[in-house]
Amino acid sequence: MGFDTKNKATSQQPPYPLRNDSPHFRKISRYIGSLSLVLIAVSVAYYFCPGHLLARAAVAAGHTAHGQHLRASDPVCPQADALVPGVNHDLWLTLGEALSTQGFQDRAVYAISGAVKIKGESFGDMGPVGNDSRWEVHAAMHDYLVRAFPLINKFLKREIVNTYGLVYTWEGSDPSLKPLLMLAHMDTVPVDEDTLGAWTHPPWSGDFDGTYIWGRGSADDKSGMIGTMLAIEMLIGRRFSPTRTVILAFGFDEEIGGVQGAGHISPVLQQRYGPNSFAAILDEGGSFGEEYGSIFASPGIAEKGSMNVRMEITGAGGHSSVPPAHTSIGKLAAAIVKLEDNPFEAHLLRESVIYRRLLCLAQYGADMDPMLRQKIKDSMTSDQSLLELEKILFSGAPIVKTLVSTTQSVNVIQGGFAPNALPDRASAIVNHRIDSLSSSAAVKARDTYTLADVAQRFNLNYNPFGAQNYHSAAFTGNFSLVATTLLEPSPISPTDGVAYHILSGSIIAAYNAYNWTNSTHSKGEGDDTIFVTPALPSGNTDTRFYWNLSSNIYRYSHDNFGSPDHPLGGGVHSVNERLHIRVFLEMIRFYLTYILNMQEYRNI
Ligand SMILES: *[C@@H]1O[C@H](CO)[C@@H](O)[C@H](O)[C@H]1NC(C)=O
Ligand SMILES: *[C@@H]1O[C@H](CO)[C@@H](O)[C@H](O)[C@H]1NC(C)=O
Ligand SMILES: *[C@@H]1O[C@H](CO)[C@@H](O)[C@H](O)[C@H]1NC(C)=O
Ligand SMILES: *[C@@H]1O[C@H](CO)[C@@H](O)[C@H](O)[C@H]1NC(C)=O
Ligand SMILES: *[C@@H]1O[C@H](CO)[C@@H](O)[C@H](O)[C@H]1NC(C)=O
Ligand SMILES: [Zn+2]
Repeated sequence: MGFDTKNKATSQQPPYPLRNDSPHFRKISRYIGSLSLVLIAVSVAYYFCPGHLLARAAVAAGHTAHGQHLRASDPVCPQADALVPGVNHDLWLTLGEALSTQGFQDRAVYAISGAVKIKGESFGDMGPVGNDSRWEVHAAMHDYLVRAFPLINKFLKREIVNTYGLVYTWEGSDPSLKPLLMLAHMDTVPVDEDTLGAWTHPPWSGDFDGTYIWGRGSADDKSGMIGTMLAIEMLIGRRFSPTRTVILAFGFDEEIGGVQGAGHISPVLQQRYGPNSFAAILDEGGSFGEEYGSIFASPGIAEKGSMNVRMEITGAGGHSSVPPAHTSIGKLAAAIVKLEDNPFEAHLLRESVIYRRLLCLAQYGADMDPMLRQKIKDSMTSDQSLLELEKILFSGAPIVKTLVSTTQSVNVIQGGFAPNALPDRASAIVNHRIDSLSSSAAVKARDTYTLADVAQRFNLNYNPFGAQNYHSAAFTGNFSLVATTLLEPSPISPTDGVAYHILSGSIIAAYNAYNWTNSTHSKGEGDDTIFVTPALPSGNTDTRFYWNLSSNIYRYSHDNFGSPDHPLGGGVHSVNERLHIRVFLEMIRFYLTYILNMQEYRNI
């Protein structure tokens, strides 16, 4: 997944302010701390879990030790029942048993290990396909997939898009059913050469030590690509053929924006099938793990948008022996200061994904502090409580606030060419991440409004986003705002329809099919309950190119990043990325369950 490394939480303890020593405040700060952690966990998907991971709290449905648990039947965060394939029940059971055999484990390890060995790094400065030899490594991946998946090769139609993108079509017998689209990407972030010595096993080794498969891409996202393919090989191996068409689409530059891969694949599918022609789309993103003493699965149902705005101020140059009071660099500085002094307003809104997630955590998190649980519960009907909750959240780790608001950061600045010459132009690039409930239009309007008086103050002709808004009579130069890149916030996928029901029911069925008792991936004996809550990943995935194809877009792979023996706080996008074999097998179980369940419903 294309997370920003700079947003990643690497510390176990977020810096939350302690401004008061009263016992009440300490209590508040404690839950600020843990809540911040949870939201960070959601947003970066990987984190070191604090001590409460080891807590052995029992969860009985609808009841906790605190006695303040909302009931599971309340419509606050409705849960699907485990959804076990019906028509294909025997097949599902047989495949489930096969998963745990040594033979299948060997096969799975071999398959992903071979993929990890292919060094498909994506670099930010890569030119187009055909003009940059660094793409060519993906040809080795194509060859590898042909060798490693003979049944897929025989029974699915393979197409190559833009040289390295892969589309596999598993034609269903009933063309009236909308296809299911399963996404993954074959590229990885680069390995920093300076960190090679820090890897326990080399990053392109694909070594298996009996527990972990090691290497860059083992988790992000070759586990998704190879896991999906292994599930389909298993199904074909048992002579299963689909009624609903299943399409696999694998990009090769997800980590640098996906333009070359998904950006080319999506138009092909749109042309072939038309708008809104897919039943659902599944991509990497969320995972499951313990939060507040309960196990939660967190499919991403939306993504923030983004926009880069180039601010440029021009004005007469000249010799600096006769300088004006403000050069274009000085004026630009005033504009930057104005922006930074006026950050976007942040509010916790009940419609936001983060708020809906809080409701789920409050409803099912066994160990949540009763005060916090009550506050969340009250906030459903009381605006005052909502404001208090917002205050509590925002005084925690900064990421909490950024998840529910639009952000700005001035990341590039240019201007001037000689110490003795006046700069005739100066420019800066502001990077915005657009709140899921906002839009680029709202952000443009706000930037325009915020910077207008800078234009006025310096007598600049003001040209925000192509609209010639303001002419200065005695103008000294121009001030323009241009959006150089733009991605709207994604649509928010529904959580009340059949598609989400099948997804969450499949997650629960897959989770329940494995006995997690005393496994290092569970919190304790008798732990057999998983809850599903919507989530908002902080990064974007390839799904950004597929919005036209379905409203049911879910970002979830059934991996467990919160477990104590899977400490990926430093793994994904960093050194020692690795994949626990059990986690991988359970991902495959989830894909099997999901594919079969998607076959059994007609009305999606
Ligand atoms: C192709 O590569 C050459 C040299 O590496 C570069 O000068 C040129 O701008 C590139 N063309 C495109 C379209 O990126
Ligand atoms: C300002 O913009 C106008 C038209 O957009 C252009 O003609 C003029 O040369 C610019 N002036 C400066 C000082 O950049
Ligand atoms: C799950 O595993 C535990 C420990 O190995 C065992 O005691 C328990 O009976 C198992 N539960 C089921 C339902 O198989
Ligand atoms: C599971 O772990 C618990 C707590 O550590 C222990 O009491 C119990 O005996 C274990 N059960 C099995 C079947 O190993
Ligand atoms: C979605 O469809 C619209 C209308 O056909 C089209 O203009 C747009 O480019 C499509 N978006 C993507 C990302 O393919
Ligand atoms: Zn990824």
